[in-house]
Amino acid sequence: MTPLIDPFLRPISYLRVSVTDRCDFRCVYCMSENMTFLPKKDLLTLEELDRLCSSFVRLGVEKLRITGGEPLVRRDIMTFFRAMTRHLDSGALKELTVTTNGSQLERFAQPLWDAGVRRINVSLDTLDEKKFADITRWGRLPQVLRGIDAAQAAGLRVKLNAVALKGFNEDELFSMTEWCASRNIDLTWIEVMPMGDIGNEDRLGQYWPLKELRATLGQQYTLTDLAERTGGPARYVRLEETGQKIGFITPLTHNFCESCNRVRLTCTGELFMCLGQEDNADLRAPLRNHPGSDDVLEQTIRDAIARKPKGHDFDYSRQAVDGRVSRHMSHTGG
Ligand code: GTP
Ligand code: 5AD
Ligand code: SF4
Repeated sequence: MTPLIDPFLRPISYLRVSVTDRCDFRCVYCMSENMTFLPKKDLLTLEELDRLCSSFVRLGVEKLRITGGEPLVRRDIMTFFRAMTRHLDSGALKELTVTTNGSQLERFAQPLWDAGVRRINVSLDTLDEKKFADITRWGRLPQVLRGIDAAQAAGLRVKLNAVALKGFNEDELFSMTEWCASRNIDLTWIEVMPMGDIGNEDRLGQYWPLKELRATLGQQYTLTDLAERTGGPARYVRLEETGQKIGFITPLTHNFCESCNRVRLTCTGELFMCLGQEDNADLRAPLRNHPGSDDVLEQTIRDAIARKPKGHDFDYSRQAVDGRVSRHMSHTGG
């Protein structure tokens, strides 16, 4: 079978799947307080998700990341993870993983390990209980920390994803670094992207370029650039004093689109070829209209990949109008 190759000769081997648009938190840079969620009937069923992901695996996808919203709030989600285990067992899938806010991890860490997950990314922007409650609008930090403990106890490698937010977690750069070093947790910083309507929050005011963050980190530690990647957009440095790895996801200050290897599927079956573009392909129709065969579905996937754009248009200098994507991050799962 010919693998999936886009017009810029990038092989597509990584599928990010948002299994729900719902989340039990409302991070202020991500959702507005009164988000409306999709009616449940619009969601792909777990069987449909299985069929779709299996098609992608047949077409050469080797890495599957389950996201949301918060993926672990979707009812019976472990049934889907367990269904994907067969692709790990066959060797077709190299990695099955999840990006989670950690709220449900205490319960799900062991079942995730049992399903073949070995590494997870936990979104956590602060280690201060009060600030955590503020940024998530009502989340409880100890619950997430217990989840991280449970994940490590189950054997899962944990990476923290922190969105770099000016005036919010700038003062925690060193304390979060030390906390992660002491627990053998990797830490990746993400530049905040102009996505979705977040009410009155000031996007530009929140933006903390990672060039600045990196320079500040360099005042205290010796940073060595690492060539290794984890299959996603992060670039890593090693802190020589602690030996730990710090990642930087820099869509704004250092576009990484030239090495893009991924596409994303929403919980309603839209395939987005780029996080920062609106173009998408409906996979739910070919899935539902052709229950007996995957041929039309797989051709629709190939046709969609054939129009994957070169890169995103995020750009704060052009302000809200053209540099912004109206969908929320939770729709496409980051
Ligand atoms: P690893 O497997 O650990 O490399 O993970 P990853 O970085 O691919 O996945 P993760 O869910 O940790 O992604 C973190 C964040 O990076 C996402 O939520 C997005 O904000 C951002 N991101 C991931 N892929 C892309 C991309 O293709 N374009 C842009 N602009 N941002 C992305
Ligand atoms: N910009 C950057 N990251 C974001 N996330 C949510 N919204 C944004 C945004 N506008 C992050 C979450 C989580 C990941 C899935 O995406 O914090 O780490
Ligand atoms: Fe790829 Fe688009 Fe992401 Fe750029 S923004 S790395 S092209 S998915």
